Amino acid sequence: MTALRLFGGGTRASVIVDFVRWRLADRFELQGFYDDNPSAGGALGIPRLGDVADGLRDMNGGDGAAVLALGTYASWRACELLHELRRRRVPVASLVSPMASISPSAEIGPGALILDGVFIGARARIGALLTANALAIIEHDTTLGHNVMLGSGAAIAGFAHIEDHCFIGTNATVLPKVVVGSGTLLAAGSTASRDLPAGVIAVGAPAKTQRSVGEGDEVPTSARISVLPRP
Ligand SMILES: CC(C)(COP(=O)(O)OP(=O)(O)OC[C@H]1O[C@@H](n2cnc3c(N)ncnc32)[C@H](O)[C@@H]1OP(=O)(O)O)[C@@H](O)C(=O)NCCC(=O)NCCS
Repeated sequence: MTALRLFGGGTRASVIVDFVRWRLADRFELQGFYDDNPSAGGALGIPRLGDVADGLRDMNGGDGAAVLALGTYASWRACELLHELRRRRVPVASLVSPMASISPSAEIGPGALILDGVFIGARARIGALLTANALAIIEHDTTLGHNVMLGSGAAIAGFAHIEDHCFIGTNATVLPKVVVGSGTLLAAGSTASRDLPAGVIAVGAPAKTQRSVGEGDEVPTSARISVLPRP
């Protein structure tokens, strides 16, 4: 049994708490969460153990593993925290549904959240902090960078390449060999049939750039990305 402490007490944390109790109760025990907001996490049913700085201190050399549960709007902060936790040699857990199908030849970095019905094919190479929501498909020979989020039913076809910090919306599709530039958000239901540049919101089938990413989007801006540490 591994003891888990969550960083973040918002919506993503609530999904993770539910998922661990539902699918992974035989492997993980939820000890509590850290959040800078003292009133966060009221409905989680696990105790707030302090703010993020307390968490970094508590977990230094302690038992258990950290879970990054900060959500898409703060995913850049999750990257910073992952870097800090690894520097301090704190284990960072990946939470993988027993109902996901993952090829033994796939490589997946730390801090993944992989929900029911996800398929990850042969030789997929995936960085840290993957979020794959229910029924997402990552086909053979794809490469995904760090901090990539796939909405439910999103499909990444063979030999496609998704760079760091991308968000592929619910039921969106990336066609074979297409490259999606870093920090780009492909809108729900859209199809990327040609390469997409970095740092844009792309919409439609075929997907076209609608605008540049700005503050308040669910992917970090390119200015933010440029100063983030690599995991
Ligand atoms: C694309 C998105 C980020 C919104 O971007 P935005 O620039 O703020 O877009 P707006 O909401 O202002 O809409 C702008 C236009 O794009 C259209 N649009 C927005 N999302 C769209 C989508 N997914 N598909 C097609 N058109 C879309 C709007 O209808 C609107 O059209 P109009 O100008 O003709 O009225 C958002 O709609 C989206 O798809 N997010 C992904 C959500 C998701 O998959 N979450 C997964 C959670 S697990």
